[in-house]
Amino acid sequence: MTNKFLVGALSLIGFLLISMNAVAVQPKEMITKVEMGPINPQMVNAGKGLFTSKCAMCHDLDQKKVGPTLRNVTKERKPDYIMNVIYNTTKMQKNDPTFKALVVKFKNVPMPDPNLSEAQARSLLEYLRSVAK
Ligand code: HEC
Repeated sequence: MTNKFLVGALSLIGFLLISMNAVAVQPKEMITKVEMGPINPQMVNAGKGLFTSKCAMCHDLDQKKVGPTLRNVTKERKPDYIMNVIYNTTKMQKNDPTFKALVVKFKNVPMPDPNLSEAQARSLLEYLRSVAK
């Protein structure tokens, strides 16, 4: 009786550990190439929604908030940089000279990794392309 219980409990713990690991060890590759065509309105829409819910508390297009203004970020920065800031935030804070300089400048709150998929990051990039003047 106790033995069966122990075996059951141990396999449950083992199963949990394995599945936790499977979730944790999803390597996120740095993005080196971004396919870009004419601005895609569906992606812009998705990106706008994400921007409102995940970014607007710290970023305004035109006014400096906790983070820098983003209206013309697609003119100032390369698409792969913007994708990596959104998708690989922590790595960029450690390794990218341009982003590191911003971290120093905006020293109060470093940007937290928004935990989005690559496709979501891509929609945000599309939205940022659409608002540039
Ligand atoms: C808690 C505040 C916060 C949130 C939320 C946030 N950011 Fe940031 N962001 C910052 C700060 C602060 C910086 C400046 C770098 C640093 O200190 O980490 C920054 C930098 C950036 C940059 C680099 C700008 C440049 O000129 O190089 C981009 C692009 C960016 N954020 C996009 C986003 C997007 C898109 C989202 C939503 C998914 C987002 N951020 C969410 C605070 C935030």
